[in-house]
Amino acid sequence: MLTSGGDAPGMNAAIRTVVRAGQDAGFEVFGVERGFNGLLGGSIAQLGSRAVSGIIQQGGTFLGTARCPEFATEAGREQALDRLSEYEIEALVVIGGNGSQQGAFALSEAGFPVIGIASTIDNDLAGSDITIGVDTALNIALEAIDRLKVTASSHQRGLVVEVMGRDCGYLALIAGITGGAEAVAIPERETNPEAVAREFQNAYEKGKKHAVAVVAEGAQCNAEALIRYFREQVSLDFEIRATILGHVQRGGAPTAFDRLLATRLGAGAIGAIKRKEFACLVGSLNGTTQTTPLKEVAGKSKPLDLELLDLAAVLVS
Ligand code: F6P
Repeated sequence: MLTSGGDAPGMNAAIRTVVRAGQDAGFEVFGVERGFNGLLGGSIAQLGSRAVSGIIQQGGTFLGTARCPEFATEAGREQALDRLSEYEIEALVVIGGNGSQQGAFALSEAGFPVIGIASTIDNDLAGSDITIGVDTALNIALEAIDRLKVTASSHQRGLVVEVMGRDCGYLALIAGITGGAEAVAIPERETNPEAVAREFQNAYEKGKKHAVAVVAEGAQCNAEALIRYFREQVSLDFEIRATILGHVQRGGAPTAFDRLLATRLGAGAIGAIKRKEFACLVGSLNGTTQTTPLKEVAGKSKPLDLELLDLAAVLVS
């Protein structure tokens, strides 16, 4: 098993389950360090039950992770196949998001038995309604927004809070709705800075003590763009401050929801291996653990429910 791409809180709970449920099923389980990089380099070691003690409550990934451009090449994949055969590995579990599941699919197309586990804070992976790490990242963003609102109210300020999401606005949209934001900006829909400035000014004129814009890092109106606009183009009655949460969102202890989801999906991966069902992603669909063929997942992204964005606008009054 390996973890790949951006780490996500709950990955350790998935690793722990793959080891323990795997042993229970009579398998020997090996961990690969630093994702596909470690696979190419042969950083592979057997994991027993004790090796995964005390990790369920830890964020990050005990195996380490990496983004591995080399694995996108045919030569890289051949080297990976050589390593897997050298260690007599019979099936590979890939815990990760979009890029990682594309790697998993490429390996399965080359004939190797692969199972993916849906894990990314972005929640943009097809084949899983919710992915490992999303709940924790959202709660961290929400706690930050709640705290920022306290100090913003004291000073009567406008706040720009940037959350992660290069290509996907899920975190910004849900944190915006649940954090009571006046404006939300996401990569999926064009938002101009004038519209955000208008929301801030309206809030001030209605007598609000603060106003919040939650923006995704990949939005046209991310924190940098908004701050530049506010500095150069417009004068607002609110004084504005910006906070970029960045990797803080990925570093938290996994919530109970993420630990349970990761445990269910880890067990689902072992179940799929027992059934010899490969080339699939284990995810959570309609509240149950299900598999989806990797070919329906790789390179696709799950669309965001944009009706929620319209709802967010209705709630600003
Ligand atoms: O894919 C998860 C994610 O956290 C994205 O939201 C973000 O754009 C990206 O990873 C950041 O990547 P890195 O950790 O490599 O800087």
